Amino acid sequence: MPRGEPFKIKMVEPIRLISREEREAAIRRAGYNVFALRSHEVYVDLLTDSGTGAMSQEQWAAMMRGDESYAGAASYYRLRDVVEEITGYPYVLPTHQGRGAEQVVLPNLVTRPGMYVLSNMFFDTTRAHVQLAGGRPVDLVTPEAMDTESEYPFKGNMDLDRLEAFIRDHGAEDIACIIMTVTNNSAGGQPVSMANIRATSEIARRHGIPLLFDAARYAENCWFVRQREPGYAGKSPLEIAREMFSYGDGLMMSAKKDGLVNIGGLAAFRDKELYEKACGRLVPYEGFLTYGGLAGRDMEAMAVGLREALDADYLAYRVGQVEYLGQLLRDGGVPIQWPVGGHAVFVDARKFLPHIPPEQFPGHALAIETYLEGGVRGVEVGSLMMGRDPATGRQLPSPFEFFRLAIPRRVYTSRHLEDVADTLIRVYRRRERVRGVRFTYEPKVLRHFTARFEFVE
Ligand code: F0G
Repeated sequence: MPRGEPFKIKMVEPIRLISREEREAAIRRAGYNVFALRSHEVYVDLLTDSGTGAMSQEQWAAMMRGDESYAGAASYYRLRDVVEEITGYPYVLPTHQGRGAEQVVLPNLVTRPGMYVLSNMFFDTTRAHVQLAGGRPVDLVTPEAMDTESEYPFKGNMDLDRLEAFIRDHGAEDIACIIMTVTNNSAGGQPVSMANIRATSEIARRHGIPLLFDAARYAENCWFVRQREPGYAGKSPLEIAREMFSYGDGLMMSAKKDGLVNIGGLAAFRDKELYEKACGRLVPYEGFLTYGGLAGRDMEAMAVGLREALDADYLAYRVGQVEYLGQLLRDGGVPIQWPVGGHAVFVDARKFLPHIPPEQFPGHALAIETYLEGGVRGVEVGSLMMGRDPATGRQLPSPFEFFRLAIPRRVYTSRHLEDVADTLIRVYRRRERVRGVRFTYEPKVLRHFTARFEFVE
């Protein structure tokens, strides 16, 4: 097996590590929030794998074919055909990105205030859209996910016992829908097994509750199923995807991940009813049915990207690169969520910085230190991102305190990742000296994006 990337590079973008003094000034000016750094102040940017990937020559070529008609664009129909081929869902709506799909779909399901929406685990914008629609999000991830050192192969799974118990205790009529997030971003990019998806679907059908996928990283999930689940080694990622989606009623998707595009999203449904309700919100909030907030050329790039992301050579490279970074960190003693997930290495900040309590945000403290040490930008996924209960104003408990290093698709080389690992291992060696943080400004909604901080002395 060759070890190199399954592509060569045709266009380059310069990056540079600015000096320690410049980094100190930059993060101070940013209010100690990595979201407020400018990209030229960052050397290796692992803030997110969302919309940060490199497009292929086939995608760039397809963009030239973009049909910019307001209604009935050929680009829409090409996209729709690809989505139907992969998912089996005939009713397809483009959206400007994942949260666009969330805002056109979720309010149709949360029809009364206080209804529950159950998930293996919500991503932050999905959780926010459930709350904005008046619903109550509930995470039911499998307990194996909490032990970052265990070898469990599917830490993204839904806890089926808790799911059954929740429906029994609260009644199916108060549950708006079930959302299966594949892979499970917030638990560490962890996969969900096909057996777990099938069982969740059976429970949902038995109670008449719609099951939707949050399909942002579905292709990476398919790859893990093929690698880890008995019976799938001989199947193509496309066959696995088709089986997976056959268990649901529809999907919301940020195509900025496994759609391999810089902007774009999707909602797709098996039945006309959910689709028609979504159409009613798509037109006023996103755009007409055949463009949904995208240019024709964006839909062309997505149609090609969705296919490329299911290519076995690509997926082996992609998941392999994330695993390579995880292995380097583990060899250096850094505690991480193990096995490594699909799009990112999640550093266990609770174990890395045991002297920093959750209310001083250890994952965020690590994000600041890692930037100062080597110009590497990652992000907290823990108490800071979890936020407060909108009803009581109290901090919601977070099951994890992670510092996430998300790897853009087809962008960085293994050498860059070696620099990232060296940086973090240097921070690990002086971890006792890392300080916690507190707010100097705390916004009410999605606070982690724009908050400002100071160090706790
Ligand atoms: N669902 C999941 C699982 C996500 O990870 C994201 C975005 C979304 C939905 C929303 O999609 O950004 O296109 O509106 N995740 C990015 C991240 C931002 O960094 O993990 P979007």
